[in-house]
Amino acid sequence: MRTLVTVSAVLMLSAAVFAQDISLPAPQKTGGTPLLDAISARQSTRDFSDKEVALQDLSDLLWSAYGFNREDKRVIPTPRNSQEISVYVFLKNGVYLYDAKSNVLIHKAAGDQRKSVGAQDYVYTAPVNFLYMADESKGMGTASNVAVGCAAQDVYLVAASKGLGAVVRTGGLDPETLRKLLKLTKRDVPIAGQTIGHKK
Ligand SMILES: Cc1cc2nc3c(=O)[nH]c(=O)nc-3n(C[C@H](O)[C@H](O)[C@H](O)COP(=O)(O)O)c2cc1C
Repeated sequence: MRTLVTVSAVLMLSAAVFAQDISLPAPQKTGGTPLLDAISARQSTRDFSDKEVALQDLSDLLWSAYGFNREDKRVIPTPRNSQEISVYVFLKNGVYLYDAKSNVLIHKAAGDQRKSVGAQDYVYTAPVNFLYMADESKGMGTASNVAVGCAAQDVYLVAASKGLGAVVRTGGLDPETLRKLLKLTKRDVPIAGQTIGHKK
């Protein structure tokens, strides 16, 4: 049985917290900036401060990427509803797998692993990086890229709504490095990363 830790305000830097799973606050599923305003504001940011992202914002961003909006279906479409995507979250003190059903970040690796999830310097400054992986054994091939594109755009829009910066990335992802770190197999393929944080 895993230990759940509730962090109410911001992502705390305590190693004790990050050595365990993180229970996320319930995502806010209504409100925010009007959709067309968020689309108008969407852009890529590559200049991030190291200020932490509030846990509520992280929960909202993850829900917009890959949460459920029906009993067994997601906010994003997936080919044949195969739900072959996984979202990993790289924080300053560890790496986590987003479990949307339980709204928990499951601890997968300790320490600052941001250098494993991108080659551009801003990846190491920003407090949050998402990694979108696809399970190739489900046979969806390049269709998984489309599903991840939907997730990344949702995150761009929610980030814009919150005044946060974001950039989706396909560069700097080494499949073997990531598989080793996350204890994955060849069937797990990195599709894209997405860096998120406060704009400088
Ligand atoms: C599939 C894809 C891959 C991308 N890869 C990277 C990347 O590796 N590094 C990066 O800094 N930006 C990356 N970007 C962001 C683009 O450079 C950016 O969207 C483009 O310059 C247009 O800027 P805008 O997003 O502000 O409109 C990528 C965007 C897409 C859609």
